[in-house]
Amino acid sequence: MDKQFLIQEINRLKQQKNAVILAHYYQNEDIQDIADFVGDSLELSKKAQAANADIIVFAGVHFMAETAKILNPSKKVLVPDLNAGCSLADGCDPKDFKIFKEKYPDHVVVTYINCSAEIKAMSDLVCTSSNAKKIIGSIPQDKKIIFAPDQNLGNYLKKETQRDLVLWEGSCVVHEAFSLDKLIEIYIKNPTAKIAAHPESETHILKTAHYIGSTSGIINFIKTDPASVFIVATEAGILHQLSKTVPDKTLIPAPSTEDNSCACSECAFMKINTLEKLLQCLSSESPEIKISEPLRVKALQPIERMLELS
Ligand code: 13P
Ligand code: SF4
Repeated sequence: MDKQFLIQEINRLKQQKNAVILAHYYQNEDIQDIADFVGDSLELSKKAQAANADIIVFAGVHFMAETAKILNPSKKVLVPDLNAGCSLADGCDPKDFKIFKEKYPDHVVVTYINCSAEIKAMSDLVCTSSNAKKIIGSIPQDKKIIFAPDQNLGNYLKKETQRDLVLWEGSCVVHEAFSLDKLIEIYIKNPTAKIAAHPESETHILKTAHYIGSTSGIINFIKTDPASVFIVATEAGILHQLSKTVPDKTLIPAPSTEDNSCACSECAFMKINTLEKLLQCLSSESPEIKISEPLRVKALQPIERMLELS
């Protein structure tokens, strides 16, 4: 279908149905451009909570749309493709997590927002990459902590907070794929470059970084730092907003191990959403996120605690 037609129809239906489109920085460029708001996980959760449109179309992955529904249950929450999963969320099965949790009965359970509603419902606190240090810091020193499902973010938090976290061994397929050797090769060719990395990356990548933070944190760092060349170790979708806000800076995507033809790393789950699916979802008002009320109420508590602390 013609792109201009798709854009026109999406905008028409959005108005007609009083819908708002929220998109993560990892979405396709066209989706970012048509969205009412583009942000990181924390910002998107806040926007979803505050939304007063009748329909929230969440252009991101399933756990993000599910979080929007948990926070704003009276709205119809749609996602362009229900199969937009996440290796972190999908790698933490509620039955297995229950068994894991039972091994550490006296531990406070902190979970990264990249998990299902069932896992959130088993948690004391939720966090995102932008507030994780603060959330861990809010827990009294004498309390022991379980952190799930991202072991890379968990290892980073252990180092930053000096707390002994018990980690669930999950990881993000995109951030775990960055090649240290290739990153060093690029850095040798660009010795004035600054390296900005997302904390879902492995420790050896984080050790090279001049800045570590969430997608919004990385964008702000690149906007404000005086350097003119940056190597960006996160999903390549972030480069779209950056190329608009800092067109004069050189942005080099960190290379992944698998990737010989192109230097970028893309999340296949995020990229499953397209303009066609966005239009189809607005037009048919499906797929819709559904969640039972008892589960929603349980999952809401640790998210609300996070938002109070953020
Ligand atoms: P943030 O948006 O919090 O930086 O998280 C990145 C991510 O991997 C989302 O799935
Ligand atoms: Fe999940 Fe990684 Fe994709 Fe984010 S980039 S949605 S953490 S698989």
